[in-house]
Amino acid sequence: MILPIVIDPAPILHRRARPVRPSAELLSLADSMLETMRASRGVGLAAPQINQDIRLLVAAYAGDSEAGEPALPDTALLNPRIMARSKEQSLGLEGCLSLPGIELPIWRADRITVEAELLDGQAVSQKYHGFAARVLQHEIDHLDGVLITDRVEPFSVVFMGTPEFAVPTLAALHQHSAFRLLEVVTETDKPSGRGQRMISSPVKRYAEQIKIPIWQPKSLKTTEAVSHLQALQPDFIIVTAYGKILPANVLAVPKHGAINVHASLLPRFRGASPIQATVLAGDAETGVTIMQMDVGLDTGSIISQEKLLIAQGDSTGSLSAKLAELGARLLPISVIYLLSGLIVPKKQPKKGVTETHRLNKEDGRIDWMAPAEQIDRQVRAMNPWPGAWAEAGAERILIHSGLVKDGRYVPTVVQLAGRNPADRRAFERGWRGGTLPWAAKS
Ligand code: NI
Repeated sequence: MILPIVIDPAPILHRRARPVRPSAELLSLADSMLETMRASRGVGLAAPQINQDIRLLVAAYAGDSEAGEPALPDTALLNPRIMARSKEQSLGLEGCLSLPGIELPIWRADRITVEAELLDGQAVSQKYHGFAARVLQHEIDHLDGVLITDRVEPFSVVFMGTPEFAVPTLAALHQHSAFRLLEVVTETDKPSGRGQRMISSPVKRYAEQIKIPIWQPKSLKTTEAVSHLQALQPDFIIVTAYGKILPANVLAVPKHGAINVHASLLPRFRGASPIQATVLAGDAETGVTIMQMDVGLDTGSIISQEKLLIAQGDSTGSLSAKLAELGARLLPISVIYLLSGLIVPKKQPKKGVTETHRLNKEDGRIDWMAPAEQIDRQVRAMNPWPGAWAEAGAERILIHSGLVKDGRYVPTVVQLAGRNPADRRAFERGWRGGTLPWAAKS
């Protein structure tokens, strides 16, 4: 019989289960537990997970001959106790049927000796090693009310990021129990708008909300900056669109190096404006790369990549939001897999390298002699920043959006400097400045 599995949070998962005596009922309960475990594709199950306050566990899995991992036959143990454990430990990735969707890196002893009773009451002493030792330790933890979320030793992280694109990654690290944020590093506040008010970065505003210490150095190329970071003793520096280059002595600070979330499928579109370059190139797909940083510009080894199809009409703004979410999903698990030895970073291929530069307002100037499709890509690539624009007499008209019609590019939403964005037809009715550039080619 398949039994319902208790999902955390539930008090029974957090208290010590009671010792139990062998009985005929336990025989069929253990059978049902094995059946439930298999149906959920688990490798072990403890009685508290099926709402039974008793010290009973089951475990079993098919081996992996390639990895030299023998199978564990159907096992059911009453009142198991770990009598000895090796000093040697390994970090491995564990999930739990009571914590759906969560995988955490957990240290476990490589070898253990377990004493227990079998279902017929016979006392046994059994040695386990490798994966079996990990499974048994996990299930015995359950009998003691201990979950992997209690057991995880979080990696300490200094996060560096600045724009909206970086916020989802910061949020993911903040919410993940495998990570502990020590400090958020972001660009200095910048004057903005007519009043030149000082504006904080989106990352700074989010860090204030979640109450993580914030540091806004003018430069990372000082001995003070390096010793400031050294004092934090981070396991990782995680960088997402920070805005400054990390010098070699900063990259050397964290125990496990610096890791970057980059918004393209490297080695294509290294550098400052990968998303704009993707839209401008008219690519059909893009993605996110999680990369080990080195001193070069986005030249580090690739930890993981995930692709994303570009939707028709995607602008830099819309694509940026999607890639930010994708990066935020991919980063934590990539770091955990890396540390658990499940991913080996790969050098970037030498072929297919392209670089992007920091954009300026001039990149938004539309050449009306260019093919309509190219103008369309430019308008979408420059949205929201720096914005595509046309000159009409002495005026500058921002083009927010448009479409290709009969081989011509026709704007749909336009804006005169200092005014509100307007529908193109309404704009044309009020326009007294002569021929508009998009009409000139008809
Ligand atoms: Ni579990």
